[in-house]
Amino acid sequence: MTTKSKPRLIAVLPGDGIGEEVTQQSVRVIEKLNALMDLGLECQHEPVGGTAYDLHGTPLPEKTLELAKAADAVLLGAVGGPKYDSAPRELRPERALLGLRSELDLFSNLRPATLFPELAAASTLKPEVVSGLDIMIVRELTGGIYFGQPRGIEQSDGQRRGFNTMVYNEKEIERIARSAFEIAMQRNKTLCSVDKANVLEVSELWREVVTRVSADYSEVSLSHMYIDNACMQLVRAPKQFDVIVTTNMFGDILSDAASMLTGSIGMLPSASLDSNSKGMYEPVHGSAPDIAGQGIANPLASILSVAMMLRYSFAQTKAADTIETAVKAVLADGQIRTADITVDGNAASTSEMGQAVLDKLQ
Ligand code: IPM
Ligand code: MG
Repeated sequence: MTTKSKPRLIAVLPGDGIGEEVTQQSVRVIEKLNALMDLGLECQHEPVGGTAYDLHGTPLPEKTLELAKAADAVLLGAVGGPKYDSAPRELRPERALLGLRSELDLFSNLRPATLFPELAAASTLKPEVVSGLDIMIVRELTGGIYFGQPRGIEQSDGQRRGFNTMVYNEKEIERIARSAFEIAMQRNKTLCSVDKANVLEVSELWREVVTRVSADYSEVSLSHMYIDNACMQLVRAPKQFDVIVTTNMFGDILSDAASMLTGSIGMLPSASLDSNSKGMYEPVHGSAPDIAGQGIANPLASILSVAMMLRYSFAQTKAADTIETAVKAVLADGQIRTADITVDGNAASTSEMGQAVLDKLQ
């Protein structure tokens, strides 16, 4: 007897700017792969970010959050745009992202910075410094200064005073440390924890707990680095790193810096996971208002985010490999390149790039 397994529901939240354009290509990839490999994936769409604000007056409508909660994984495009810069903080598109992260308890954010050999020339760093680069940044995503209380702007002594709180408890540090050690075990068994323990008490505790957890992973060699030095080392000799684990804000900064090593932020996917491998997957690039609506954005970061989804949330290694192989084949062909990665000045459109990947899927 054959029973068809339960479909896997993907909440597709395209969001704003190029988010919509790139996600469209990812959905084509999901549909084709579904047909090819009978994966039982089902997509449902809802608006998020500025798009949702325009439609429903809030960046994260109840229906969108409900779908994200009910789904087995979330595919997000991007949120934000200059149009919303003057909206009150609570209604800005970014709030949707922070809301989803915290409501879904997506504490472990994986941001790989991998250089495709064909793109070595696109990096602003010398090819020998970046060739073969393969780093995984594990960023804590639901705590730290992004969410710490108290926070606010208040009147004090006849002037305004702004304040935020950088706070971590032991459990929060321990679970992200475990996540990072597990990933290190599957890679080269080296982990660098980045903090500011020379100045901040919260970092002192961070370092202590990460060190304590390391006792359970004796095969992994653990080092610690201050955030300022880590930024410097990342551009000086990035290949010294394999897995990096760090706090919410330091990870935000480090991952942007790391993305540039690879030549184009348009290539980098990300995964944000809870403790049960439910995840939200999104390109690292934002909504890129400057090129939105022109159909020229690079959809590869979003397409590679689908590969991460298949790998981490659905344990579909073969399907994930299929996507990554197709992307590599397109890059190796060198015929189709979007504007951000072109070498000869010829730029393909978003949908041409999507089509090129589709053609290589088999
Ligand atoms: C990111 C972004 C977000 C963050 C913003 C848009 C809230 O920069 O995902 O890195 O700071 O986390
Ligand atoms: Mg960021």
